[in-house]
Amino acid sequence: MKRAIYPGSFDPVTYGHIDIIKRSAKVFDELVVAVLSNKAKSPLFSVEERVKMLQEVCADIENVRVDSFSGLLVDYAAKSEADVIIRGLRAVTDFEYELQMAQTNRKLSGDVDTVFLTTSLEYAYLSSTTVKEVASFGRDISRFVPESIAKKVYEKYGG
Ligand code: PNS
Repeated sequence: MKRAIYPGSFDPVTYGHIDIIKRSAKVFDELVVAVLSNKAKSPLFSVEERVKMLQEVCADIENVRVDSFSGLLVDYAAKSEADVIIRGLRAVTDFEYELQMAQTNRKLSGDVDTVFLTTSLEYAYLSSTTVKEVASFGRDISRFVPESIAKKVYEKYGG
């Protein structure tokens, strides 16, 4: 059985993330979507809120479960008995950071490999950061996130 982890901040989950989740769930037997609980960052949504939103949007995908983690990703991967870490690559600008992270993780643990999926072209421009910025000005984010998520984002901005 091959288990993969798809880690991230998911603040909030976007159609770009959902694209990667659906495609990796087809390749691996089990996919754990893992939300980083990082007190240093100040996310718009709490870890619990992010987990709940992901559970909502992944409800139809049988082999996906959602969890959260703190600390090092490789430690969480070992604890979860995962073989692979999944990361999405949108553009060449992602590459340097992703390569550095994958190589660091490989040095920290030889047991887990990183597999990159290229984000589908229609979502290549998309990031949680831009979604939040557009929403903060009250503009339409329905092309970026599912309706239920958009509602929660607007609520955060008093909409
Ligand atoms: O969605 P993001 O913010 O790009 O995800 C980044 C994430 C969560 C994958 C990365 O920050 C991470 O793995 N953090 C855990 C700490 C860690 O293991 N750091 C060492 C790898 S450089």
